[in-house]
Parts: sequence; structure tokens; C-alpha cells
Amino acid sequence: MNSNRTSKIVNLKSNDTFALQKLNDTMSVNKEIKRITTHTLQEMKNRGEKIAMLTAYDYSMAAIVDNAGMDVILVGDSASNVMAGHETTLPITLDQMIYHASSVVRAAKRALVIVDLPFGSYQGNSKEALASAIRIMKESGAHGIKLEGGVEIAESISRILTAGIPVMGHLGLTPQSIYKFGTYTVRAKEEAEAAKLKEDAKKLEELGCFGVVLEKIPAKLAKEVSESLHIPTIGIGAGQHCDGQVLVIHDMLGINKGFKPRFLRQYADLFYVMNNAIGNYVTDVKAKSFPNEKEEY
Ligand code: KIV
Repeated sequence: MNSNRTSKIVNLKSNDTFALQKLNDTMSVNKEIKRITTHTLQEMKNRGEKIAMLTAYDYSMAAIVDNAGMDVILVGDSASNVMAGHETTLPITLDQMIYHASSVVRAAKRALVIVDLPFGSYQGNSKEALASAIRIMKESGAHGIKLEGGVEIAESISRILTAGIPVMGHLGLTPQSIYKFGTYTVRAKEEAEAAKLKEDAKKLEELGCFGVVLEKIPAKLAKEVSESLHIPTIGIGAGQHCDGQVLVIHDMLGINKGFKPRFLRQYADLFYVMNNAIGNYVTDVKAKSFPNEKEEY
């Protein structure tokens, strides 16, 4: 069993903190921060350097994520869950995605910003798919889009690519199809579904996608796909052999209390930290100890 998995909180060691501070200092003195592009990601795969991707949905979080050295920030439609409190990703709208994306773009100085096309904005009609992708690019200033699915959405992908918009695919567990799957369990364990996933991955590469997210599939299958594709794969619950990894920021920071799937490594327990801080504030206000004389004009 992997001893690093799930709810264990990973503490920064003092030399990690030092390295992080050094990176942050370098980035803040270096006025010429070089933007990560889709070409950079390809070069990273070519030289065997792993790609770090994390979600963000607002300006302040995105500024921290970018400053910490993230390669790609994903404005995921998981905003529907973690920002809006919906049970699924289906309700979020294109306008809402654009609002989140434009806030993230204003903060990201180095990271490539990729935005999810939300459910209903691209599935059945390639003209609508292009119009949705153009709105995201134009109104948010993002650098590319991501959409879920394989051969069935090939026409939409091709049309978006003809407009010069970088496209990232997403295979395996595709949360916009949750009502088709019925559960959030591991996908493509059976041979037929694994074969379809491999075919879809090849198709996405042939069409011209710059990368593909592989969500919750067996590590062995993700390894096979990653080795067979020229473009980078980014895994979430897909094991160590993907070319990069992505997590939802609320999950890895422990804001999402109680969400501890096997694939998640939790790097902080912000629910606890914030709950304590906010509780202390409530106590201080009630006790009339905040504000004191030094905190007034
Ligand atoms: O919406 C999202 O956050 C995603 C990641 C889980 C890959 O698509």
C-alpha cells in the first residue's frame, strides 16, 4: 500500500520552505517572467520533466498558485462543486466560467491558464463549441480550453483548433457524464472501455490537442497511454506514469472537509486552520477584546 496516500498531511520541511522562498524571491525580482506555453509543456514531456497543474477559480488563490511555481492553472468546472456548492459539475454556466477564468488570468503571470468548456456549451454542435471557446478566449484572456470526451466530440475539437485555440482533452472519469456512469468510481477497468480510451487518446492527438487529462483510470493503462502518445498526459487518480499531475486545490489544501479519495494527497488542513482562526475572531469580538486601543484610530 502506498504510505503517502490520502489524508496524511504533508508538512513542508524547513529546507523545502527555504527553497520555496528562494523561488518566490527569484520570481519577484525577475521582471521577465517567461510564460509557460503549450510548446513548453511538450518540451517538458520530451525531456522527462513532470508537469504540475492545479485548479484555481479566483484572483487571490491563483496569485498564490502562480507564485508557487505552477506550470498550468486549470479553471476547472469543478468550480461548480467547490465554489458554488453544487453536487455535480453540470449546472455551471459559460458566463460563470468566464467570470472565474478572467479573475485567474489577472493573477497568473507565469502559468498557462486553461479553462473548462462547461456542460452544454460544446457537446452536440461544433459551431456552438467554437462560439463557446471563442467567448472564453476573448472575454477571459485565457490561453486554451479543455473539454471532456473522445471521438464523439472530434468535430467540435477540430473546429475549435481551426480558430487557433489550444485544446486539451479529458478522458476516463469525465464528471460531465456522471449521470451516464452513475458513480465516481475508477473507469476503464474492463478491456472494452480501456480499448475505447486508447482509441480516443490517439484520436485527440491526431486532431491536434496539446495534451490530455486522464482521470481515475488504472495506473497501468495510464502508463500505456502516456508512453504511446507524443503529447503530454496529465493524471488525476491515474498513477505516477502520467507526464504531469493535476488536483483540485480545495482537496489538496484540505478545505473540502471529509473528501479523502485514495488518489488525493492532502498538503494542508486549511479547514482546521481557518475554522480555528475564524472561531478565535468570533470569541474575541464576543469578549470585547477585539479591537483594542492599538487597533483603533
Ligand atoms: O474540473 C476540474 O477540476 C477538472 C480536474 C479534476 C481535472 O477537470
